[in-house]
Amino acid sequence: MTQSPYWNRIADKAKSENRPFFSLAPMEAVTSSVFRRVVAKAAAPDVFYTEFTNALSITHPIVKKTTKGRLYIDPKENPKPIVQLWGNNKEDFEKAAVEVKQDGYEAIDINMGCPDIAVIKNHSGSDLIRHFDTAQAVIDGARATDLPVTLKTRLGYSEVDEYKEWIPFLLKQHAPVLTVHLRTREEMSKVPAHYELIDELVRMRDDIAPDTLLQINGDIMDYQAGIKLANEHPGVDGIMIGRGIFTNPFAFEKQKQDHSTEELLTLFKYQLDLYDEFVSKGIPGHFAPLQRFFKIYVRGLKHAAEIRNDLMSTKTTDEARAVIAKIENGGYQ
Ligand SMILES: Cc1cc2nc3c(=O)[nH]c(=O)nc-3n(C[C@H](O)[C@H](O)[C@H](O)COP(=O)(O)O)c2cc1C
Repeated sequence: MTQSPYWNRIADKAKSENRPFFSLAPMEAVTSSVFRRVVAKAAAPDVFYTEFTNALSITHPIVKKTTKGRLYIDPKENPKPIVQLWGNNKEDFEKAAVEVKQDGYEAIDINMGCPDIAVIKNHSGSDLIRHFDTAQAVIDGARATDLPVTLKTRLGYSEVDEYKEWIPFLLKQHAPVLTVHLRTREEMSKVPAHYELIDELVRMRDDIAPDTLLQINGDIMDYQAGIKLANEHPGVDGIMIGRGIFTNPFAFEKQKQDHSTEELLTLFKYQLDLYDEFVSKGIPGHFAPLQRFFKIYVRGLKHAAEIRNDLMSTKTTDEARAVIAKIENGGYQ
């Protein structure tokens, strides 16, 4: 196992009575520095990931600047996120690994599960499940520095049974962490995650790579659901939560509780403030992706549909703040 203070801390947690560790899933246009800080304030997981970033673009002289926002880590972020990379070329990963290490990242995760057609046409993401040789090349490339390299994948590309060859292949890489989204590429997110295979995955891990931490992902909505799953499957070390955060920004809190409108709106205003701070640093930010978050905070309110409409027609953070003020002043009747 790679020696790294970062993963030693996670491994200690995974192997103690405090297991499992929890992470916020990497999500494109979601897990930016701004939103990671929002989740950290609400209830922090143990591990954060960046949005996935093309390994080639990181060092490419022309498109490099487009990765600036994705790769930005705020000095206040603790722990720092793991940078997730996607691509299909060993050399791209070698160069990207050197660059992200210089940027201060402490670990790299390789995306081996993205179902997006553009990524697949690029022979990346879940297409690597069909091309073990390319998968091996990018893993070798990502290991160009001493940063730990972790892997995130799906069970297979077309058929669930592909996991019987694919997962052992990945385990033989002896990565510090293997994250498995319990579906195939073809299944996208349309069928329930295959929890029935967790124990088999644990057995594979125990046989092939006992030092690799196994992190499970798919349909786990919050901390309580993660604990339940980990208790039912004692070999699971980590729980990754993605879309659950859209239903409940407090998804990682240990004691489930109801949150007042005031608390939700405070978190909403915090996100708007962080966004303004982010843009004021000259980092490219876009208002439209920010709007996708607004529904999280107003979901349970009376007049939610009208409020959501008003929020979706805003163009600036100040306009969004005006809608919040109207909610606070009882303006929606
Ligand atoms: C909006 C969105 C963006 C995503 N972007 C990424 C990504 O950049 N990298 C990645 O590995 N997975 C990505 N995923 C997949 C999630 O990390 C996760 O594997 C998937 O949502 C299943 O977990 P869940 O059921 O807890 O949401 C994305 C998912 C969503 C919903």
